[in-house]
Amino acid sequence: MCGIIGYTGYREAVPIIQTGLGRLAYRGYDSAGIAVCANGEIACRRAHGKLENLIDKMARDPIAGSTGIGHTRWATHGRPSESNAHPHCYGRFAIVHNGIIENFMQLRAELKERGHVFSSETDTEIIAHLIQEEYDKKRDFITAVRCALHLVRGSYALVVICADAPEQIVAARNQSPLILAKGENETFATSDITAVLAYTRQFTFLEDGDIALLTPNEIAIYDAHNRPVQRPTKTVQWDVAAAEKQGYPHYMLKEIEEQPQKITDTLRGRILEDEVSINLDDAIDELHLENASSIQIVACGTSYHAGLVAKFYFEKFARIPTRVDVASEYRYADPILSPCDAFIAISQSGETADTYACVKLARRAGAKILAICNVIDSTIPRASDATFYTRADPEIGVASTKAFTTQLVSLLLLAIHLGRTRATLPEDEARRALHALRTLPKLMEDTLARAQDIPKAAQKLLRANSFLYLGRNTLYPIASEGALKLKELTYIHAEAYPAGEMKHGPIALIDDRLPVIVIAPQNATYEKTLSNLQEVKARGGRIFSIVSQGDDAVARISEHAFTIPTCDETVQPLLCVLHLQLLAYHIANMLGNDVDQPRNLAKSVTVE
Ligand code: F6R
Repeated sequence: MCGIIGYTGYREAVPIIQTGLGRLAYRGYDSAGIAVCANGEIACRRAHGKLENLIDKMARDPIAGSTGIGHTRWATHGRPSESNAHPHCYGRFAIVHNGIIENFMQLRAELKERGHVFSSETDTEIIAHLIQEEYDKKRDFITAVRCALHLVRGSYALVVICADAPEQIVAARNQSPLILAKGENETFATSDITAVLAYTRQFTFLEDGDIALLTPNEIAIYDAHNRPVQRPTKTVQWDVAAAEKQGYPHYMLKEIEEQPQKITDTLRGRILEDEVSINLDDAIDELHLENASSIQIVACGTSYHAGLVAKFYFEKFARIPTRVDVASEYRYADPILSPCDAFIAISQSGETADTYACVKLARRAGAKILAICNVIDSTIPRASDATFYTRADPEIGVASTKAFTTQLVSLLLLAIHLGRTRATLPEDEARRALHALRTLPKLMEDTLARAQDIPKAAQKLLRANSFLYLGRNTLYPIASEGALKLKELTYIHAEAYPAGEMKHGPIALIDDRLPVIVIAPQNATYEKTLSNLQEVKARGGRIFSIVSQGDDAVARISEHAFTIPTCDETVQPLLCVLHLQLLAYHIANMLGNDVDQPRNLAKSVTVE
């Protein structure tokens, strides 16, 4: 999520906004900017890269005023650059925006027809143009913003200043957080409490559809029906460190809990309003992956596990033979790849050296290259033919969580799309899978609410020296991901096996010192997994399971059973992994480990 701060009051706005943006920098951003109302005009400065670049620029070419807005951008539409940085200024207005405008292509085309010229590639800029058009008709600041927002579809936290109203800010929210705050003769609008904690502790949280008019002494809020409303004001006691994590003890826990929202963001505008049509970027469509004779996926670590699950999706829905390789192996394996093949590189950071080397190899082989990536315009997307961006926002915890689930959702959506295009996926099954995807955020919330007992189970597992994780089909890569999370965070050895393979060797390990974590929700292989577990039980093994709600048989032989709600098999991996992330998190935390920055690990592995 990008960072927003707006200020109107008795002081100079620029130093307050600069300090606030500095407080938001910890989350990562690619550009920044500030605009103020100055002498009846808007003055704006923006810079690509670090905040210091903006500060240097403003020192050379200062602006001043007591009403202003600032933004740190994490690119979603349009590459990181100065022209795409916020604020976006047009006519009498400057705006900053977090979120995604779904109908921006259409609105942009309509505005162009009416003679508008754009200076950026962003979805945000169209809002500034729409506001100016409405202002030309109504000549009223808040009315112009309200009318413009009636035309857009999507999510936004929006903060606007107007050259004709130098002591006013208009702020509006829909599905992206926006917080208002009041001090003595000054008011603030911000995406994060952290940005303004130095000035006030009284915060008002806007609700979806709200629009507010801020002046130095007053905040007036109107709901979606334009009725004046009072939203409760909360006094926040957090210190800055706690506020950065929004009250969570660790970034990792925050990132685990925000997965339902991130999945909503990944899907936004990609499943259309009729709830059955899929809309991917033109660049992805133009690759015509549906004609590929095979799909080759490469990735590392957690992203590799996403690829392993995706193999099932591509083969089941699109009936395209799919191979998945670890990038560091693939690059030296003299692989067989041709221009008829599709090549998919999965990478959260877009900078992983081994994965990038494989992309270059695929380029030489002439394959069509699609990246699944979280960081706009990073190295791997730039080297690929098209990119499916996962929209997970910056991931700060070193151990990957929300990046993984948004990768899975992206790959699943792509597989359904290919299945439809190739007519290998019957329409009723496509609808069922899309329904499962649309309801996934709710199912994830439900699953997270069922995870209350995980700390209790974690307590019992603190002294184990080794763990065995079991799963079948799509849930075997999830077992691998659970084992990886445990190793990374707790420094305890863990190994994942396909449940049916256990009897071919690992069963020799089973005794009461080896906890067995099994993923066994109701699905086509449930009975088989149950039989494997009977073998574990018969040898005195300790079973901790993930099961469907209402399960009896596996739960009865488990020391602890964590449940997921009843759901389509397709999305079970996305629910089961939540329990495994939390289990690793709680064990590590109880052991006193640094959960956000485990030893020896780096967030982005840019060396071989
Ligand atoms: C595990 C983890 C790593 C990364 C791997 C690939 O929690 O974060 O295993 O998944 O280093 O990184 P990306 O996806 O950035 O290519």
